[in-house]
Amino acid sequence: MPTTRRIVDLLRHGQPDETVTIQGWVRTKREQKEFSFVEVNDGSSLAGLQVVINQDVPEYAETMKRVSTGASVEIAGVLVESPAKGQRVELKAASIAVYGEADPETYPLQKKRHSFEFLRDIGHLRSRTNTLSAVFRVRNAASTAIHQFFQERGFLWVHTPIISASDCEGAGEMFTVTGFDLKKVPLTAEQSVDFSQDFFGKHAYLTVSGQLEAEIMAMAFSNVYTFGPTFRAENSNTSRHLAEFWMVEPEMAFCDLDGDMDLAEAFLKYIFKYVLETCPEDMEFFNQRIDHSVLATADNIITNEFARVTYTEAIALLEKASKSFEYPVEWGLDLQSEHERYLAEEHFKKPTIVTDYPAKIKAFYMRLNDDENTVRAMDILAPKIGEIIGGSQREERLDVLERRIQEQGLDLAEYWWYLDLRRYGTVPHAGFGLGFERLVQFLTGMSNIRDVIPFPRAPLDVEF
Ligand code: 4AD
Ligand code: MG
Repeated sequence: MPTTRRIVDLLRHGQPDETVTIQGWVRTKREQKEFSFVEVNDGSSLAGLQVVINQDVPEYAETMKRVSTGASVEIAGVLVESPAKGQRVELKAASIAVYGEADPETYPLQKKRHSFEFLRDIGHLRSRTNTLSAVFRVRNAASTAIHQFFQERGFLWVHTPIISASDCEGAGEMFTVTGFDLKKVPLTAEQSVDFSQDFFGKHAYLTVSGQLEAEIMAMAFSNVYTFGPTFRAENSNTSRHLAEFWMVEPEMAFCDLDGDMDLAEAFLKYIFKYVLETCPEDMEFFNQRIDHSVLATADNIITNEFARVTYTEAIALLEKASKSFEYPVEWGLDLQSEHERYLAEEHFKKPTIVTDYPAKIKAFYMRLNDDENTVRAMDILAPKIGEIIGGSQREERLDVLERRIQEQGLDLAEYWWYLDLRRYGTVPHAGFGLGFERLVQFLTGMSNIRDVIPFPRAPLDVEF
């Protein structure tokens, strides 16, 4: 096989008279009398390479019959200066080979705009569209930025398990993992499922968060992070919830909530900057086609300090708001998405960090404040999205932690190893979780979370 060149490389650095070979999928074909134009895309950039195919190319007529939108091709030729606007070079074909045809009668991605709903139904083909391919390039760049950010700061990347026996969030929204034959599940004397006979000898789940294991590792390596899939069996059919989503969770020993917030803010700024620098065309595309505020938002994130308020202050702001909300605003109730969006989008007009939530509505591991009523929690709220990051300083005092676990109706015995971390060399520590798909939504302006992950898992949705 000849060495092929990536189209992004040719568009950026290709020189007239260079002999090159490309491989990719045909986006469009325009046949003229004596020659044809074909646009080929290989996924390396938003723009494809324009190819001019003259009649003198071997087996022109035969080949052009087989070349249509969606067909896979290999084309060799010479780069020439392009007379067309918006591209420096185009390819003058010397030979063209068709790997696989795509019947124009049935290929679903003909050149026109398709709705995102329709594209979800053809999830195996949708990455060949401009929007989805731009999303997945931005997703890739954001992942790279995340690793780079933490590696530059000396954080250890730790791989936390996907199968777990503990409910980190204590919310009971977990999928069971079992080896049982579902036709004959053993029962206990009390007629509940006898998990002691199951594969793991106890009830196992898909993890909702790698935090507890990240805390273990932070107690040995000081600063660590996880980046992996997490699962929630919440029956939420919204544009911001998935049953399987990726989460980034740093955990820092010898760190309090202020350090946690500073890191989270620097982290988001870093990712936006990196993506703007590495995916300028894709970001320009989102700004033009998806949401006209994408570039202004990115600029706002990078240049302005985030707003910081306590939950109690946030409730006061919401009570004073001239807007009427669907859900009640009252100290002690959790903030709903409409409240979060009001604060970030309308009141502060930038990402907003809300701290010190009521203990009753937050997880057991968050550090109790001296008022005994609130915890050292922080949520970062993004315009249009709402909560994008959830984090806290952790409870490092053994007696308080034991009390909190019991107050939340959880079984102390299940958390024996987590409590041991407070028995042996406990330190103040803090961390947070970033919902990676919500971040990609924030970056791209895509309104539905199912369109920023290649294969979304949500209620009644597990195709592909
Ligand atoms: O606020 P959450 O539940 O926090 C945790 O899981 C902590 N253990 C994190 C930590 O401190 N290490 O989830 C963190 C983030 C949310 O802010 C949100 O962005 C995202 O994960 N998230 C979801 N994203 C998509 N679909 C869902 N169902 C999500 N649930 C949470
Ligand atoms: Mg949360």
